[in-house]
Amino acid sequence: MPLGYGPIIKFKGVNMTDNTTSERILIIDFGSQVTQLIARRVRESGVYCEVHPFNKVDRASIEVFDPKGVILSGGPASVTEGDSPRAPQDIFEMGLPILGICYGEMTMVEQLGGKVITSDFREFGRAFVDVVDDCPLFDGAWAKGDNEQVWMSHGDRIDAIPKGFRPVAISDSAPYTVIANEERNLYGVQFHPEVVHTPHGAQLLKNFTHKICGCSGNWTMAAFREQEIAKVRAQVGTGRVICGLSGGVDSSVVAVLLHEAIGDQLTCVFVDTGMMRAGEAEEVVTLFRDHYNISLVHSDAADLFLGKLEGVTDPETKRKIIGSTFIDVFDAEAKKVGGADFLAQGTLYPDVIESVSFTGGPSVTIKSHHNVGGLPDRMNMQLVEPLRELFKDEVRALGRELGLPEAFVKRHPFPGPGLAIRLPGGITHEKLEILRKADSIYLEEIRNAGLYDAIWQAFAVLLPVQTVGVMGDGRTYEFVCALRAVTSSDGMTADYYPFDHDFLGRTVNRIINEVRGINRVVYDITSKPPGTIEWE
Ligand code: XMP
Repeated sequence: MPLGYGPIIKFKGVNMTDNTTSERILIIDFGSQVTQLIARRVRESGVYCEVHPFNKVDRASIEVFDPKGVILSGGPASVTEGDSPRAPQDIFEMGLPILGICYGEMTMVEQLGGKVITSDFREFGRAFVDVVDDCPLFDGAWAKGDNEQVWMSHGDRIDAIPKGFRPVAISDSAPYTVIANEERNLYGVQFHPEVVHTPHGAQLLKNFTHKICGCSGNWTMAAFREQEIAKVRAQVGTGRVICGLSGGVDSSVVAVLLHEAIGDQLTCVFVDTGMMRAGEAEEVVTLFRDHYNISLVHSDAADLFLGKLEGVTDPETKRKIIGSTFIDVFDAEAKKVGGADFLAQGTLYPDVIESVSFTGGPSVTIKSHHNVGGLPDRMNMQLVEPLRELFKDEVRALGRELGLPEAFVKRHPFPGPGLAIRLPGGITHEKLEILRKADSIYLEEIRNAGLYDAIWQAFAVLLPVQTVGVMGDGRTYEFVCALRAVTSSDGMTADYYPFDHDFLGRTVNRIINEVRGINRVVYDITSKPPGTIEWE
C-alpha cells in the first residue's frame, strides 16, 4: 500500500474518507443552512475538514478520524426543547479543542452545566458586539474595546456559562456572545463567523484551526493531488476505468487526474447525446485527444438519446431516461475496449454531505442529478470519484494544479443532461437547433463584453410557448427564448447577473434577427432560492 494511504473509515455506517491528511478538523452538523460554509472557510485556511451529522458520530469513530479539533455547527432546533440534538458527550472529555457556533455554542453550554433560555428578543441578521477581553480566537482581528460587526441568527440565549468559561465579547441581546475556556481550549460564539457578513469571521475560524488546534495549514492542492493519485491507484489496481467526459470542469479534472494516476488503463468516453452546445464535441475531443493524448472514444449516441426522449415532457422522467441511457452507452463502450471494472465520475462534496433531517425522514429531492443518485442499480462497474471531497472552487484549483488550460478551468458548469433540461417540454431536433444558435450568440456577447468570468453560469432556455410578433410587414408566431445568468459561489444559492440594458438590448436584437424560430426574448431575474439555476 503506498505511503500515506489509509483505509476507508466507517463512521457508524457513514463512509468517511481515509485519515491520510495529517491535520483534520471534524465539523459536527446540527442542520444549519450554512454548515457547508464552515467547511469552506476551514479549507480556505489550508486545513482539511469533513462534515458529519451529530447523530452519526461517537467516541470510537472520532478517535479513528483523529481530528485536531471539532467545530459544532449551528442548527434550527432550540436546546430548550426536550428532544433537541446534542453533541456526543464524550467529545468534551477527549481533550480536543472545540468551537461551538450558534446552536453548537448553546448545546456545549448546556452539556457542560450552564444554562440556556429562550430569549424574548430574537436576533437575525447584522448585529454588533463589544469585545471585552483579548482571546486567542481574536488574534489579528479583534482587540479589547472594539465594537465589531457580526451576523446573528438565534432565538435562545445563554443565561449562565459553565465553570471555567469567561465572556470575551458581549452584546445587548446576548451577554455571552463569545465565551472562552482557554485552559480546556473550548470556545463558543453565538454568531456565524462562516458567513461573509461577519467581516472578520474567516480570521476567527483560522485562529481556531491554526492557533488553538495547532494546524499548520498544509492542506494544499499539490498535496491533495498526490494523495488522490495514490488512492486511485490503490482502488483500481490493474483494472480498467471508463470516464465519461462532458466538457465540464469536473469531468475534465477527473480525466486528467486519472490519466496521471493510471495512464492507459483509462479510456475516456465523450458521449454526444445530441443535446450538447454548439462546438462542444470538437473542443473536448481536441483538448483530450490531441493535447493530452488520452485515449478518447467519441460516441455518437444522438439518435439513441433523442429516440428514447421522444414525446417525453416530464423533467424527472427526462433525467432518469438520460441517466440510464448514459449507462447503456458506457457499458457498450466498455465492452468495445475489452471490459471496464470502474466508472469514474465527477461527484463533488456538496452532493455527498449527508443532510441532517430532524423529522427522521429523507430530505426532499428537488432534482435527481444523475451523477449522484440517478445511477441504475444494474450498473456493473464500481465508481471512482476522486473529487468527492472537494468543493467546486477547489476542483478549479486542482485543475490549475494539473495544468489544465485556463479556458477549461474557468468554464461555466454544464449539466449532465445537457440542453434537455433547457428545453422545457418535448425535445426535437428543430428545437435543439434553435436553442443552440441562441445560446451561442448569448455566450459570444457575454465573452465580447468581458463578462464570462464574472458569471457563474449563463445559458439560453427555449420555452414551449409561441407568441405573436411582427417582423418586416409580416406577422410571426414563434418561440420565446429566456436568458439566464447567475452569480454564485457553489451553485447552492445564486443571484441573477445585473446586465446593463445596452447589453440586453444588443443580445436580444441579435437573437431575434439571427435565429429563425424565436421572436421574443425575456431575461430571468429569479434568484436561487426560490428558483433553481436550471429551468428543469
Ligand atoms: P440547479 O438547477 O439545481 O443546479 O440549481 C445547480 C447546478 O447543478 C447543475 N445541474 C446538474 N448537473 N447533472 C449535473 O451534472 C444534473 O442533472 C444537473 N442539474 C443541474 C446546474 O447546471 C447548476 O450548475
